[in-house]
Amino acid sequence: MRVLSGIKPTGKLTLGNYIGALKNFPNFQNEGETFIFIADLHALTMPIDPEFLRENSKIIASFYLAAGLDPKKCTIFRQSRVSEHSELAIILQNYLYMGELSRMTQFKEKSQNMNQNAIGLGLFAYPVLMAADILLYDSDVVPVGEDQTQHVELARDLVKRFNNHYGEILKMPEAKIGKVGKRIMSLSDPSKKMSKSDPKGDIFLLDDMKTIRKKIMSAVTDSGSEVIYDIENKPGIANLLTIYAAIKNITVEEAETTFAGYRYGDFKKAIADAVIEEIEPFQNRFYTFYNDPQTEKILEEGEAKASVIARVVLQRVQQAVGLR
Ligand code: AMP
Ligand code: TRP
Repeated sequence: MRVLSGIKPTGKLTLGNYIGALKNFPNFQNEGETFIFIADLHALTMPIDPEFLRENSKIIASFYLAAGLDPKKCTIFRQSRVSEHSELAIILQNYLYMGELSRMTQFKEKSQNMNQNAIGLGLFAYPVLMAADILLYDSDVVPVGEDQTQHVELARDLVKRFNNHYGEILKMPEAKIGKVGKRIMSLSDPSKKMSKSDPKGDIFLLDDMKTIRKKIMSAVTDSGSEVIYDIENKPGIANLLTIYAAIKNITVEEAETTFAGYRYGDFKKAIADAVIEEIEPFQNRFYTFYNDPQTEKILEEGEAKASVIARVVLQRVQQAVGLR
C-alpha cells in the first residue's frame, strides 16, 4: 500500500493542521510505503514572500519529523525538487475540464475576494497539480482533512477518464479522513474553519504555552452551561470536545462523558491543559530538528528517492499518451 500526503507552506500551521493532518501521518508509515511532502509549488498559487516560503518549508519539514515521521520508514521531500510533479501536471491538465475546476470550493473561496482580472492560472489549476502529486506515486491512500476531499475526488474522476481512454495506466487513489477532528473550527467563530489567517481564533503550533492557554480560555462558548456535544446549538463546546477527543485518541462521546457536570470555565481549563501537554513536547522536538543541519540532508535524500519512483510512473504516462 502506498500512502501520500502534503501540506502547503503558506501560513503558520495551526492546531487544525496538526489534528487533521500532521498527527495522523506517522500512523501510516508502519502500514505501507509512505510519501509526505512539502507542497511548496502549491504555495505559489497565492501571493507569498520568497523568504517566508523558504523559511516555512523548513519549518514544515521540522514539523513532520517532530510529529514522528521517520526518514527510514517514510520519504519526506519538497514537491518542487522532484520535477516529475510539474511534468506530470502539464500532461494531466488536458484531462481536467475548466467547468469542474471552476466548481471547486477552495477555488471559489480563495478567488471571490480577489480582483477578477488578476486571478492566477495556478490557483485555478491547483487540483491538476494536486492530482499529479497523488498519481505520480501510484498512491492508494491520501490522508487529508475534510476540506481536501473534493480535490481527491477530482483526481479520481481524472483516473477514470484517463484510464477509459488509455487503459489501466493510473492507480485509483482514495482519501482517508481521520475519524475525529477532520474539521477543527475557529475558537473565535466556530462557524468558520480554523485556518492560517485568523490570529485570535487559531492556535498556531509555535504559539507559546501562555498564548495557547489564553486563546482557549477566551474561546467563544455558547449560552447554557452544560458541556454536551451539540454541533447545531453548541458549536463552540462541540469544537473543544472534538479537539480534546482528537488529542486523546478517544471518541467525542467519550470526551462528553469525561466532562459531564463540568462548568464551562473548568472545562476550558482542562482542554487547555490537554493541548499544552501535547504541544509543548512537540514544540521541543520541533526546535531540535529545526536547528539540526541533518534536516536538510533528510529532504535531499527523500527527493532522490521520490524521484526514482516518480520517474517510473511519469514514463508510463508519457508512453501511454504517445510522448515516448
Ligand atoms: P493546508 O493548511 O490547506 O495546507 O492543509 C494541510 C492539511 O491540514 C490538509 O490535509 C487539510 O485538510 C488539513 N487541515 C487544514 N485546516 C484544518 C482544520 N481546521 N481542521 C482539520 N484539518 C485541517
Ligand atoms: N492541497 C493540500 C492542502 O491544501 C496540500 C496538497 C497538495 C496535498 N498536494 C497534495 C495533500 C496531495 C494531499 C495529497 O492542504
